[in-house]
Amino acid sequence: MRRQPLIASVTGSRTRPMAVVYITHKERAGWATIPPVLLSGPGILAGVTRADLDKQPHEVAEMFDGVAKRYDLTNTVLSFGQDRGWRRATRAALGLRPGERVLDVGAGTGVSTEELGRSGAFAVGADLSVGMLQAGRHTRPEVPLLAGDALRLPFADATFDAVTISFALRNVVDTTAALRELGRVTRPGGRLVVCEFSHPTNTPFRTVYLQYLMRSLPAVARSVSSNPDAYVYLAESIRAWPDQQGLSSKIMDSGPWDRVGWRNLTGGIVALHRATRV
Ligand SMILES: C[S@@+](CC[C@H](N)C(=O)[O-])C[C@H]1O[C@@H](n2cnc3c(N)ncnc32)[C@H](O)[C@@H]1O
Repeated sequence: MRRQPLIASVTGSRTRPMAVVYITHKERAGWATIPPVLLSGPGILAGVTRADLDKQPHEVAEMFDGVAKRYDLTNTVLSFGQDRGWRRATRAALGLRPGERVLDVGAGTGVSTEELGRSGAFAVGADLSVGMLQAGRHTRPEVPLLAGDALRLPFADATFDAVTISFALRNVVDTTAALRELGRVTRPGGRLVVCEFSHPTNTPFRTVYLQYLMRSLPAVARSVSSNPDAYVYLAESIRAWPDQQGLSSKIMDSGPWDRVGWRNLTGGIVALHRATRV
């Protein structure tokens, strides 16, 4: 398996930011401080610490800190193993090529980032929840993960060939601002794929699904998750999220994205929205 550095945090002074990186190569294993070649200026870097976050994102981060320990398992149980197929479909939709750079925003434990890395592209994940990042570092130490807010990403303009966000855009306080920020770090002609829960297209199926979401899912979460209450919030946020057309319009209206289209997975439980950077 390819070994890549884990970026643990960003430190240094405002004028000379540094990244603390865990090198996982056998012969050089250990912590090192390097100039963050991919990272942007100090103004952006100031945004990545948890202390600087607005109240609401901080609460979101705390909620995910609470589910981090058993996140991967809970996900697979609650989705009846469908999550693996959704991640593979996300990778395919991004059309990644070896040598390209892809950013996975809201990467959590890195489970989505790991799948992207299978394309041969350099995949890096960013997340607000230190608990999720720590769980990821433990489970998959070879996946590069760093602390970062979707609204103030710690990367220079046009750094990535592709960006993606799986099951996380829903949790970001300002969807439009996040879509704009994703556009900022993507090169012109680069690709966006949003993988998110959506609206099943068949009405009877949607009725059964909503029953599962609002009643059974929190009950199942109680027996699997380390913070079952978080799954009540998650179920409610899925129900309140715009449908396929609604998200498509949001992406289009955010500014940097063009040629927006979507594809339903599992009858529309999940939708993949694809767009190209103007
Ligand atoms: C449901 S998890 C998804 C994790 C992973 N992408 C997956 O596919 O399983 C949502 C993640 O979004 C993160 N998140 C929420 N708001 C965020 C923000 N503003 N910036 C970065 N990450 C955020 C949470 O901390 C959480 O880890």
